[in-house]
Amino acid sequence: MNLQLQGKIAMVAASSKGLGYGIAYELAKEGANLSIGSRTETEIKKTARKIENETSVSVLPTILDSSKAESIEKWTKKTLEHYGGVDLLVVNAGGPPPGKFEIFTDEDWMNAFELNLMSAVRMIRSVLPSMRSRGGGSILTITSSSVKEPIDVLILSNVMRSGTTSLVKSLSLQLACDGIRINNLMPGRIETERLKTIDLKTAEKNKISIEDQINSNFSEIPLNRYGTIEEFGKVGAFLLSDASSYITGSSIAVDGGIIKTVW
Ligand SMILES: NC(=O)c1ccc[n+]([C@@H]2O[C@H](COP(=O)([O-])OP(=O)(O)OC[C@H]3O[C@@H](n4cnc5c(N)ncnc54)[C@H](OP(=O)(O)O)[C@@H]3O)[C@@H](O)[C@H]2O)c1
Repeated sequence: MNLQLQGKIAMVAASSKGLGYGIAYELAKEGANLSIGSRTETEIKKTARKIENETSVSVLPTILDSSKAESIEKWTKKTLEHYGGVDLLVVNAGGPPPGKFEIFTDEDWMNAFELNLMSAVRMIRSVLPSMRSRGGGSILTITSSSVKEPIDVLILSNVMRSGTTSLVKSLSLQLACDGIRINNLMPGRIETERLKTIDLKTAEKNKISIEDQINSNFSEIPLNRYGTIEEFGKVGAFLLSDASSYITGSSIAVDGGIIKTVW
């Protein structure tokens, strides 16, 4: 693809591995300079070096906890000081713990709120002045197929990510006049470390082998396999680029067909 992203500045949260990394890597392949962040210093620095070695772009690594206001402020400040502005933002974080409704306390709900909804509010708010001064920008959030079809054991995730999806739609109305587009990606099952951990736990609970668990999961997906972070990243890079210049306020599924609803 040539998405005309050469020289653009992209901030990608929660990106030392997994879905955030998948998007960051595709953006770098398209020529965008990166500011990437996650909590473990050694991992984010290692990822920055890897992307710089394999592409021709500049990558600025930062320790970032998406659930903390102060950490987001520091990340944005460092990016603006280093690059002078920002054009693209990917909002991402880890997922809240699984479990049924009754086990969660108020504190669990507040932690999920900070991690998966307030992270979006804060990251988006922090980049708007720069995007406006540069004449526009593009923002992408990552939620889950669960915003369309709630997943039984992921109630905290289902609820918070629905809020983020609504935030995206609401902001698309307010930001269009500034030339800023905002969209949302809904991953189904994309092969990452998080998914491997979940599969291992589910296999244990079901008392079956991990292979049988994965085959059983595949059978629920029309394309009969998990997606790759590369497949996910390519859609992300497309939505962030001007190749999708007439798309805003949309939630796009990258799910191999697992969502069964028409809309
Ligand atoms: N993979 C899927 O199929 C799928 C489907 C639906 C939704 N999701 C959601 O998509 C998000 C990413 O999932 P993934 O599969 O890519 O997970 P992953 O493979 O575990 O990678 C998570 C990445 O986020 C970073 N991270 C975790 N918590 C963070 C925080 N509080 N602040 C900043 N960075 C943080 C991790 O690094 P550190 O640990 O060093 O911070 C790592 O770089 C999660 O919210 C997940 O629930 C994933």
